[in-house]
Amino acid sequence: MEGKCPTSFVIFGASGDLTRRKLVPALFNQYIKGRLTEPTHVVGFSRRPFSDDEFRHLLLEGMHELAGVVPKEADWKEFSQRVWYVRGDLTEKKDFKNLRVFLNEKEGGFCNRLYYLATAPSFFPLIINHLGEMGMSDETAGWRRVIVEKPFGHDLTSATELNSSIHAFFNEPQVYRIDHYLGKDTAQNILYFRFLNTIFEPLWNRNFIDHVQITVAEDLDVGHRAGYYDQAGVVRDMFQNHLLQLLTLVAMEPPATFDADAVRNEKVKVLRAVRPIALEDTVRAQYEGYCGTEGVAPDSQTPTYAAIKLHVDNWRWKGVPFYLRSGKALGSKTSEIVIEFEAPPHVMLELPADYKLTPNYLSLCIQPDEGIHLRFETKVPGSPQETRSVDMEFHYRSTFRGETLPDAYERLLLDALHGDASLFTRSDEIELAWGLVDPLINGWERSPEVSPLIQYLPGSWGPPEANTFMARDDRVWRLGCGEHRDN
Ligand code: BG6
Repeated sequence: MEGKCPTSFVIFGASGDLTRRKLVPALFNQYIKGRLTEPTHVVGFSRRPFSDDEFRHLLLEGMHELAGVVPKEADWKEFSQRVWYVRGDLTEKKDFKNLRVFLNEKEGGFCNRLYYLATAPSFFPLIINHLGEMGMSDETAGWRRVIVEKPFGHDLTSATELNSSIHAFFNEPQVYRIDHYLGKDTAQNILYFRFLNTIFEPLWNRNFIDHVQITVAEDLDVGHRAGYYDQAGVVRDMFQNHLLQLLTLVAMEPPATFDADAVRNEKVKVLRAVRPIALEDTVRAQYEGYCGTEGVAPDSQTPTYAAIKLHVDNWRWKGVPFYLRSGKALGSKTSEIVIEFEAPPHVMLELPADYKLTPNYLSLCIQPDEGIHLRFETKVPGSPQETRSVDMEFHYRSTFRGETLPDAYERLLLDALHGDASLFTRSDEIELAWGLVDPLINGWERSPEVSPLIQYLPGSWGPPEANTFMARDDRVWRLGCGEHRDN
């Protein structure tokens, strides 16, 4: 091992999709960019019988086929020499012993270690237990950290149990719970946009904002993940983590510093202020044809779409509803946040009697057409009184020409290696999020008649009831980003 204080990046579940699609491409890209400053060794652990070279080959194939990364031969050669494979069964303590021996030999002394749990979630407690019992969480010979993939629990009880199993051997600062939405540059930019500019923050409250919308729409259906998805549904899969995380970034107070605990304390305060969700404030739906998918129960009641109205009961947000929606098999893929501002208090122009002024709104475009748009009213030139809504637009693609947005995992893996947990979910945060969605999921099961499961057409923007739901509050869903945006 070259250099001082190297790092071992150990992946449990190394032969799986995530390793090939995300983890290794992210590590490789960071390596090529020269950001893996200490020598880092990647050690895959899995049950399948690979030699080191076979494993490296599998990863290279994955880079091409799953991640669309075609490395230069010399780069891959250099990087892959740092990749090793240890065959082992997660249920066998003796295999963890072998892994420990292997790591100790390779490391040859003081060495940091990052364990990545990329297996099915049911194995998480077992792996933690083995690591703990083998003394592999002990930090005497270098730091020891663990990254836990999602889903983190299935409900509040299981998430709390998982936190306890982890805390039996790892202290909270050693634990990095992934939510890949926080690794997206555009999600991080919400904080930069709010707190590095003086022009928007004074408006960012109930005095000027009418309401907020968060849309995470996907055009793909559940595909080959039906087995998992049918047990999870859209609320566990998307709301408990990604949508609530986006909500905290939009709604939080400015932290005094950007360190992990300062940021996460503010996010936790938002979650604590969210009022329990009323079943009447929800729409749940399933796309037509879902029950015919292999792996889905023929009479499945799993929602693939939901729309929810939330209230954040604090000084800043009192009376400002947050509308969240997400679904599969929708019109197109877009993740965006719309901040709709209040109407002007007085209009002195002589507009036609039936004239409805379009409110100003700001769209934070998370993906795929990343950027920010501000919509405002303009006088149509030459007309006496006519107005039109126009956009002031920022697109990452045209502004940062030549710079592609890195995959979320690149940033997150690097942060974990550097010991920065600000973009990872803390234990209390994850439990609070489950505490918000659990009663909703249970309520739907207990009282299905309050918010019945509706069908929607694949390729549509969800059930018409979702529009009625907004119309009840005299509001409409808005799309402010990309091709499909409102005219
Ligand atoms: C995952 C969900 O966490 O996020 C998937 O399990 C979903 O169902 C995915 O498709 C969406 O991520 P992104 O980055 O494509 O918006």
